Amino acid sequence: MLDQIHSAASLLARQREIVVLTGAGVSKESGVPTFRDALDGLWARYDPEQLATAAAFERDPRLVWDWYEYRRGLVRQAQPNPGHVALAELERWLRVVIVTQNVDDLHQRAGSTDIIPLHGAIMRSKCFAACLGEPTLIDVAGLAGFDPAQGPPRCPHCGAWVRPDVVWFGEMLPRDALARATRLAQSAKVMLVVGTSGVVQPAASLPFLAARCGAAVIEVNPSRSEITPTAAIWLAGPSGEVLPRLVQAVGEQLA
Ligand code: OAD
Repeated sequence: MLDQIHSAASLLARQREIVVLTGAGVSKESGVPTFRDALDGLWARYDPEQLATAAAFERDPRLVWDWYEYRRGLVRQAQPNPGHVALAELERWLRVVIVTQNVDDLHQRAGSTDIIPLHGAIMRSKCFAACLGEPTLIDVAGLAGFDPAQGPPRCPHCGAWVRPDVVWFGEMLPRDALARATRLAQSAKVMLVVGTSGVVQPAASLPFLAARCGAAVIEVNPSRSEITPTAAIWLAGPSGEVLPRLVQAVGEQLA
């Protein structure tokens, strides 16, 4: 692994800017359950399609809102792990753009400054009717008398339900975010892919696009994924251990 970390670090050290694609694996060591893990305990009897869809929300806004409030609580309790921190520290030497499939705010809290949330942000809320355009963000904490334990509030502009600002099954990804992520994948010389199984489209197509356009893909994942065959280097370990070693090696080469 040491040789591979050294090879990966020398690739990174030659760049002025890199693109990083992260998935649920980068938050695993922070104790944030992956999308499917969050269906445990009292949520075990549901499957994602019953909760993470606009139809489910229309059918039972309170149930869907409560599941997201439960997950928001888990995110609030979580801390960025050394993997998140290492990606933020990498900005000391390179421009780093993080394209993330995760809806938690751990990259932000670790200090990364340029983040593209492809699947939205769980801590944000928006009008279900997008009455002032998509997204019509609503600061629910500022709504008079709002109690998150009482289910979703109403949009102060139009009265529709307020929903979490995340991408649900069957919904399009935020157009500008996907367009920027695609452009970055096409122009990247190096793409670092961390903690994604590479099965959820269109995010999963980005490493393949980058490789087709000439980028070297470096993957950090303890297990093989759909991305591994395309990776120039596979660092087979947990990101909380691998990323700090990788960033330290970059620093040693650039110091
Ligand atoms: P997955 O849960 O599909 O895959 C998680 C990946 O992280 C797997 O490849 C694991 O091997 C890897 N992994 C586990 N522990 C790790 C660690 N400590 N360090 C690094 N990697 C580790 O999550 P994603 O690929 O992100 O979509 O796909 C999740 C998406 O599917 C979500 O964004 C959600 C869901 O449908 C939407 O919400 C639209």
